[in-house]
Amino acid sequence: MWRAWSVLLLGAAQGSEDFVSCLGAERRAHVATFASELDMIQSALFASTSQVFGEVAVLDYGRGAEWPKLTVKLHAYKDYVFRMMASQICDFVLFVDGYDSVVAGSREEILDRLLALEASTGKAVFFGAEAQPDKFLEAFQELAKANNVTTPWRFLNSGLMAGRVWALRTFFQEMLQNHGLDDPIPDQVLCANFSLFQRPDLVALDYQTELFLNAFGIEGILDGPWAWDLGQPPQSVALVESKGQTWIENRLTKKRPLIFHFPGPGKFSKKAPCLKNPRLFCLRSLPFEVVRLLLPEAYKGWRLESMQDLFDDLSTPWLPRWNNDDYLHFQRTWSVLEKIKLRERIISYMGIVDLLLLAIFLWHRWRLKGCPRLPLPHTLRLRVKPETLDL
Ligand SMILES: *[C@@H]1O[C@H](CO)[C@@H](O)[C@H](O)[C@H]1NC(C)=O
Ligand SMILES: *[C@@H]1O[C@H](CO)[C@@H](O)[C@H](O)[C@H]1NC(C)=O
Repeated sequence: MWRAWSVLLLGAAQGSEDFVSCLGAERRAHVATFASELDMIQSALFASTSQVFGEVAVLDYGRGAEWPKLTVKLHAYKDYVFRMMASQICDFVLFVDGYDSVVAGSREEILDRLLALEASTGKAVFFGAEAQPDKFLEAFQELAKANNVTTPWRFLNSGLMAGRVWALRTFFQEMLQNHGLDDPIPDQVLCANFSLFQRPDLVALDYQTELFLNAFGIEGILDGPWAWDLGQPPQSVALVESKGQTWIENRLTKKRPLIFHFPGPGKFSKKAPCLKNPRLFCLRSLPFEVVRLLLPEAYKGWRLESMQDLFDDLSTPWLPRWNNDDYLHFQRTWSVLEKIKLRERIISYMGIVDLLLLAIFLWHRWRLKGCPRLPLPHTLRLRVKPETLDL
């Protein structure tokens, strides 16, 4: 069916024969993510997409998934674009990873960047580039060289992608032909392989980080050796505040990307001075911090601020204050329940031990006062010290 539209709307401008012309199409964009369970960190994505787009599609189709076996994620993305209406084939769809992404800017700004990417690359499906190589290192280096790329952002990361509905239909349809739902191949390897060797005419990387930025650290928020060790040069990505405006800048490409992904250790919380008491240490994470700095209303509205405050626990004196194990930033909700249940159980046992000790103490005192002998069971009698209890 979609092939019919392709023929109907065949564009001469793009060179490739199955490209659809969307010249003069209405400016529309949707954002979708894949998630099979709830995690505390999703608050950052939901807060940001809610403010920027107003809605986000959370896909799973009841299938469940386990990282890094995420062919199921690509199938969900495919199903999503095939469920869209014929009138939507020129709409843009952004697919962002659910557990470590933040969307900023506005829908209009994002559309402008997508149109600019189409114009500058002549391609139709876009991935965020990252500084850390995965598979196909040499092929990506060669491609970067051919594109005159001078920065380390030259490897495909499958956490951020976008394209028009027609292009994403073609992309997923062709790529997933021989890869079923249970295929154990990592989704990033599949996307990279397909983009490099099968449809290089269709797919481009956002080398300049015009729209997408994969980052491990951001200077001025949380940055350090964990980011530099993974290939992101120190001070290359920074928080900039000027004339009442705040943005995140890639200093090497001189761009201000709008959609962020914090792969690997980028999303994990780090020890840093507390926001409301810099003399103490707190655990903070990039997804939470980027929402706080770029989308303060969403940060308050989605209660990320209250969550962080509760977690920091600054009203408790430092000695009994407990915030070492992070159950806020990257944490499945079932696992938070597990921790709560463990703490409750420990408190219950401690209460029982307290009561037992109190009972032994009272009984001891009563014995010392010379009261008549209790008809104790034999086992209990063995536990008490004979010399103190005079049994
Ligand atoms: C890369 O630079 C060379 C030399 O300046 C130029 O001829 C070529 O068109 C550039 N390639 C791209 C993809 O910009
Ligand atoms: C890349 O794709 C080709 C063709 O589908 C396949 O033969 C090859 O094994 C793939 N390589 C990897 C590393 O997945």
